[in-house]
Amino acid sequence: MSERIDGSPFCPCAPVEESMLGVDRRSFLVGAAALAMAACAGGDGSGTTAPDTVGNKPDTVGNKVDVAAHPTLADTNGVALVTLSGTPLAIVRTGAATFVALSLICPHQGATLNASSNGFTCPRHGARFSLTGSWAGGERTSSMRSYATQYDVATGKLSIG
Ligand code: FES
Repeated sequence: MSERIDGSPFCPCAPVEESMLGVDRRSFLVGAAALAMAACAGGDGSGTTAPDTVGNKPDTVGNKVDVAAHPTLADTNGVALVTLSGTPLAIVRTGAATFVALSLICPHQGATLNASSNGFTCPRHGARFSLTGSWAGGERTSSMRSYATQYDVATGKLSIG
């Protein structure tokens, strides 16, 4: 048996009364709910989301990718992982002169997605996405963020943004 600060007896194994905590049950539940919502809304607290745009303006070099520099993009369904202006991206060749550019930031809570043999997977909660970024299973979330692409056949450069 111990004593409280006011000198009254206190047993550490006795149930704790709400008045002892200085917070009532309703306040505690509201606070816990707010913490849970903060953890779900906007992610894991990191605030990481896919940016609206990547790189600089489409006519600048900053967001152009030299397709020939990425041998994995030589064939349809080839994937190259690049970072443009700090944004991790997957570029997927979908045809002779067509590509998709996808943010590798998971739309659920901002983890960085991994490329797999047939798409992308999230290491944090298991969301799966197709090669073109559509949600395909696991943790329910939206599809991967995609960015406009424009391929210049003459120069072999892919503009993203
Ligand atoms: S962060 Fe939750 S599934 Fe990707």
